[in-house]
Amino acid sequence: MIIGGPSSQLLGGRVAAALDEELALCEYSSFPDGEAYTQVSSDLDEEITVVCSTPSDRDIIQLLQILDVLRGRRIDLVVPYFGYARQDKQFKPGEPLSARAMAVAIDAFLAEGSRVYTVNIHDRSVLNNFRHLAMDLDAAPLLADEIRAMGLHDPVIISPDKGAIRMARVAAERIGVDYDYLEKTRHSGTVVSMAPKEIDASGRDVVVLDDMIATGGTMAQAISILRDNGARRVYLGSVHPVLTGSAVLKLCRAGVEAIIATDTLEKAVSTVSVAGLIAEAVRGKPL
Ligand code: R5P
Repeated sequence: MIIGGPSSQLLGGRVAAALDEELALCEYSSFPDGEAYTQVSSDLDEEITVVCSTPSDRDIIQLLQILDVLRGRRIDLVVPYFGYARQDKQFKPGEPLSARAMAVAIDAFLAEGSRVYTVNIHDRSVLNNFRHLAMDLDAAPLLADEIRAMGLHDPVIISPDKGAIRMARVAAERIGVDYDYLEKTRHSGTVVSMAPKEIDASGRDVVVLDDMIATGGTMAQAISILRDNGARRVYLGSVHPVLTGSAVLKLCRAGVEAIIATDTLEKAVSTVSVAGLIAEAVRGKPL
């Protein structure tokens, strides 16, 4: 049986279809004072997989409510988008490691033998905070297949910084194209320029690949730089389309050609599904 969290209803349905399992009926609503109400209405099966992204604090509460319903059972828990994952370091005294707090809170509900899966979590070290088996799934090959099908002109995959180059490399090697990252060069105290480190992007279609687009600031800057460098068309690929506030407007104004993303978060740009990836992992073998 698959339980889809409030922000993973479509993905939960897709995972259920891929595994040919029942999708549980759940109710997600509010008490009059605004507190979250959750009910798993279907009779529970022996084997349960929960698919529940946590883009908001309310999603986290509702995940904990689901886990409370399932307490004492061995489950597979998939958190495709793991909220707070970027808060994994302390910068000032008195700051929490919120990513660790999330992991510890979730872990406390899990019975022996349970497994946890994330998809392209911001930093895999967060998974070390789980006592249970926890692993990260990689959606870069799925984005690569979508990029290949787009029939781009002399494409190159670029990550917006050195830290994200692993995704660019995985995708580029799968498609058989070049990859690079945007390097920052400081010319003086105030003048900084950014450009692809090695590759000349002029006249080429570029796909900028990153784990997530949140405010869109990083990607908007990357688009402008690449266009200044003569790129023919600039596309964006991202596992998690967080897209807060006016991110999409920012990206359109910067001149993005198209955005492709996965359904770890269910947005209009989520055209690549991670359902198969999750289904294979949960089943423990290729479908
Ligand atoms: C940062 O390390 C991440 O990989 C993303 O580049 C970043 O979170 C994107 O955030 P924003 O869209 O707000 O620039």
